[in-house]
Amino acid sequence: MKPQLLILFLLASIYAFPQFKLTPEQESIRTEINKKTQTDYNTILQQLGITEIRPGANGNDPNAENAANYDETKADIYTNYPNPLIFNNGNPVTTAEDWQTRRLEIIADFENEVYGKLPENIPSVTWHIIEEKEENIDGIAVTRKTLEGKVDNSSYPEIEVNLQLSVSTPSNIKSPVPVMLMFGFSFPDWFPKNTFPQQKNAWQTNLLKQGWGFADLKAGSVQPDNGAGLTKGIIGLTNKGKNRTPEQWGSLRAWAWGASRVLDYFEKDNLIDATKVGITGHSRYGKAALVTLAFDERFAIGFISSSGAGGASLFRRNYGEVVENVASSGEYHWMAGNFIKYAGPLNWNDLPVDAHELIALCAPRPVFISSGNKGDNWVDPKGMFLAAVKASPVYELLEKKGIETAIFPPVETALIKGDVSYRQHNQGHVQTPNWETFIEFATRYFD
Ligand code: GCU
Repeated sequence: MKPQLLILFLLASIYAFPQFKLTPEQESIRTEINKKTQTDYNTILQQLGITEIRPGANGNDPNAENAANYDETKADIYTNYPNPLIFNNGNPVTTAEDWQTRRLEIIADFENEVYGKLPENIPSVTWHIIEEKEENIDGIAVTRKTLEGKVDNSSYPEIEVNLQLSVSTPSNIKSPVPVMLMFGFSFPDWFPKNTFPQQKNAWQTNLLKQGWGFADLKAGSVQPDNGAGLTKGIIGLTNKGKNRTPEQWGSLRAWAWGASRVLDYFEKDNLIDATKVGITGHSRYGKAALVTLAFDERFAIGFISSSGAGGASLFRRNYGEVVENVASSGEYHWMAGNFIKYAGPLNWNDLPVDAHELIALCAPRPVFISSGNKGDNWVDPKGMFLAAVKASPVYELLEKKGIETAIFPPVETALIKGDVSYRQHNQGHVQTPNWETFIEFATRYFD
């Protein structure tokens, strides 16, 4: 399903089924969030001196003047991509040692212009086990822990941040196990609670069958998923409730920060092999998973699902979602305020970096780029493949294997021979159909 359709479906469900109907209180929370988001957005535009940005691509109406482009012959407007293997001063990057220095230049560009910088004063997190119980999942004995990571808010007690985590590991183990950490979806504050039943997931069983565990970090417990929430969560706490300045971090880096704190905890949990922890997420959380893997070198592998614009797809391509969408009031909170400049007055081609360099920051660690087919064009499946191709020379410099072909493969071709891997499954905007391929890829590193 197209992401926009999914959102429409969720909204339509609210009206179609009485149990989904918003109460007046939920309606007013939603109105309030939208109002506050607009105010925060205007504040950041003002700081940037921007009065107008170009409209995003319209993914809903193919007849609209600004309809999203899905014509491959019109997608590659720009061809001069920044080269991860050339230093800012024009010198070539030729050794693994050079790459360590070049990596810092690329990180600086991503921090300043795209995802934002982490503040220096981020308080510490203390993890508490709230519950520990034995479960049985498809005949496998599992130890499930529910934890809370309390962020020290003594510098600004008005804002509380409690990371919510659950971890499930097979019970009968002889040594610590690999774990896949997933960013769990959180519904917005105004959304009716318990609307969807908890689903049993085959991929979890499959991970357990490998002898691996899985964990879920509720992204919303780290940082809310809207502009109004930028004065709350970990971003709001470190800013003592004030609005962001344009170079500060957005929600993607905040979520990634949360994942890093989970990994700190894993390093102390003797059921978990912290050198074999993977990160995964879908859609906006696919973006967050890629940002996590790129910036925190302790994560061993990534399963990056339908991450699209702001994730693995190239910003310089005009296909599906574009920079202007990500810079709009509905999505800008994921990014640094500075990113909005590239939707006016600057252009996509002015970005000092592009998505292939985010993938390159993951090198030499294995990464699996995943997308859907029909109904998932908004994420630009080919743009994500091309980013994987353009990241491959960095892997090769580090004596790893890049993606095995530069030719866009037919749907359902698993390109998992390299350390940069890719597969487009044959369903819509979902992650599930690619778990099996990911597990096959990951066994090379985890078994
Ligand atoms: C929207 C947005 C995407 C995002 C998606 C999601 O469709 O444009 O960038 O990935 O929502 O997270 O569901």
